[in-house]
Amino acid sequence: MPLWRYGVLGLCALMMALAQSGPPLRELAERRGILVGAAVEPSLLLQEAAYGPVLAREFNLVVAENVMKWGALQTSRGQFNFAAADLLVNFAQKHKQVIRGHTLVWHQQLPRWMYGSFSRSEMEAILSQHIRTVVGRYKGQIAYWDVVNEAIGDDARLRATPFDVLPDYIERAFRLAREADPKAKLFYNDYGAEGLGPKSDAIYSLLKSLKEKGVPIDGIGFQAHLDLGFSPQQARMAENLERFARLGLEIHITEMDVRLTGPGTKAERLQAQARLYQEILQICLRQPRCKVFTLWGVSDAHSWRAASEPLIFDVDYQPKPAYFALQRTLQQP
Ligand code: G3I
Repeated sequence: MPLWRYGVLGLCALMMALAQSGPPLRELAERRGILVGAAVEPSLLLQEAAYGPVLAREFNLVVAENVMKWGALQTSRGQFNFAAADLLVNFAQKHKQVIRGHTLVWHQQLPRWMYGSFSRSEMEAILSQHIRTVVGRYKGQIAYWDVVNEAIGDDARLRATPFDVLPDYIERAFRLAREADPKAKLFYNDYGAEGLGPKSDAIYSLLKSLKEKGVPIDGIGFQAHLDLGFSPQQARMAENLERFARLGLEIHITEMDVRLTGPGTKAERLQAQARLYQEILQICLRQPRCKVFTLWGVSDAHSWRAASEPLIFDVDYQPKPAYFALQRTLQQP
């Protein structure tokens, strides 16, 4: 293993190299009026020397990759464990980073007990206790919450979830979150909806109807888990974002990563990956309602799809062409 991934001297060398590679992304993003974020696994703050310093230097927003999910916070019914989430919040506050909370209602990463059979009124109580407790704990500290995540399936219909016994669980979740922290901005977050298409249409209709009913929803998160084959232009991504903006929603890119797999040499693929990061950032910068650009992790060493090297720092925290592409894009007028 490379010395500097763990040693103090190596860490100093890395930070000096980064300092020579230009201004931190967060500094450039601030000048452009956006936040640049990364998904965080707090255990890595304790385990890996380079993780915290790189995170603090480059990003002015953090989001919990896993530790604020239902399955992490409420493993037994009514018993909450906030230790890891608190670690993240403390780190963010120390480093003046804005926090996105992820996620209150999702069909995945639920604790086993949530798959029991519950009556409507029991589920009402479960949902309400979870949202009140979690959002309430971080009231005033978490700027944005992904209230509902991935409720629409790849078939463009509502997914089946343990929450279904409450047919209005989506709007209920937003109302509960608003009550628990009136200042937090509340988001619907999903993948595979970056461009125009049936899934994005279904999300558009859902959010439009929620807005029309007066449900407190402030924004939409486009995850952007992409492959090199994705073409924002072909998918008409800018146009898609614009229609959500016209609903009055704030727009965040919430989980961007780009798998490096595909034809060509590694150098060519790294360039293609950099171009795609650049294009998506440009689309965000050109859309006045796009305020946050977030990556789903810091380095390739710890990505959920680590084998396909999808992030902007390599396994040794060296900036990849995609890092420099973001840096340049943020500097362009
Ligand atoms: O909690 C256990 C831990 O106790 C155990 O030691 C460890 C050993 O493998 O596994 C841990 O759970 C894993 C968890 O990540 C935390 O590392 C799960 O097995 C693993 O499935 C889980 O994967 C996460 C995935 O969501 C769950 O579906 C990924 O890290 C996370 O990046 C991913 O994030 C999602 C977003 O929340 C929503 N959008 C899609 C995105 C990618 O799937």
